Amino acid sequence: MNSIIEPAYAKLNLTLDILGRRDDGYHDLRMVMQSVSLCDQVKLTRTPSQGITLATDWGFLPTDGKNIAYAAAEAFRKATGVDLEGLSITLEKHIPVCAGTAGGSSDGAAVLRGLNRLYETGLTLEQLAKIGEQVGSDVPYCVLGGTMLAEGRGEILTRLPALPQCHIVMCKPGFAVSTPELYHRVDSIKMRCHPDASGLLKALEAGDLSGVARRMYNVFEDALPAQRAGTVREIRNTLIEYGALGACMSGSGPTVFGIFSDQEEAAQAAEHLKTLYQETFLVEPVSAM
Ligand code: C5P
Repeated sequence: MNSIIEPAYAKLNLTLDILGRRDDGYHDLRMVMQSVSLCDQVKLTRTPSQGITLATDWGFLPTDGKNIAYAAAEAFRKATGVDLEGLSITLEKHIPVCAGTAGGSSDGAAVLRGLNRLYETGLTLEQLAKIGEQVGSDVPYCVLGGTMLAEGRGEILTRLPALPQCHIVMCKPGFAVSTPELYHRVDSIKMRCHPDASGLLKALEAGDLSGVARRMYNVFEDALPAQRAGTVREIRNTLIEYGALGACMSGSGPTVFGIFSDQEEAAQAAEHLKTLYQETFLVEPVSAM
């Protein structure tokens, strides 16, 4: 086997709560995560040349160690001792960048899963997730995927019952949010609301889609600058008007998504939002990798 393709799925946060700031500068989190069908394709090819090279169809992305996919390959090499000789990584990008949907982390996770197949190293997904911890906070979750509770920095993972089948509209407004900057803003404000995560977990156990959807909440929404919060609110309201059972921002944003039980309503919401925001997608939940 000389070459493989591994899908890298986007993630959404059904809930995101920040419990406090830690001594290491990170924050303790409690999040319910969900993989969705919007995905990048990560192609890994063994080449005769020395070293790792990375190419992507989105020219503005870094192609060195600043790209999480590249950093993941280096972390794999260090952790396993496998001599990667020549490795070419090609990213076919579809997941928006700086969107709160783990595009980069998911590419990194796909590199870890893919290298494990390509070099037949036989590691478990849990072992690959452990390697991913040093690459980025969302990488361990992205290695495992599906519906999971993520705690600590994001690396303490518990498998949850799968989100019931549904249709999800994701919409990214045309601005980027800096994750470290938003964490900084969180530190300077008093959080008034927190998600009802245990209620959402019970709804997941009961297979109650609308119970899940109406409990979705992300504390980062309270820390957004006013104008951006306004745009996020508008998209959320539009999704609800079109029939979403619930809507919420993902990660540090700005992507907003709505969960629908009715495919036609979801398609109409997506069609309308696409006229306003190019990066709008109609997707479905994806189960564990
Ligand atoms: O781990 P990662 O590189 O994805 O994190 C990016 C930034 O997000 C960190 O430098 C930190 O500022 C912030 N972060 C945090 N607490 C977390 C995860 C990320 O403060 N649990």
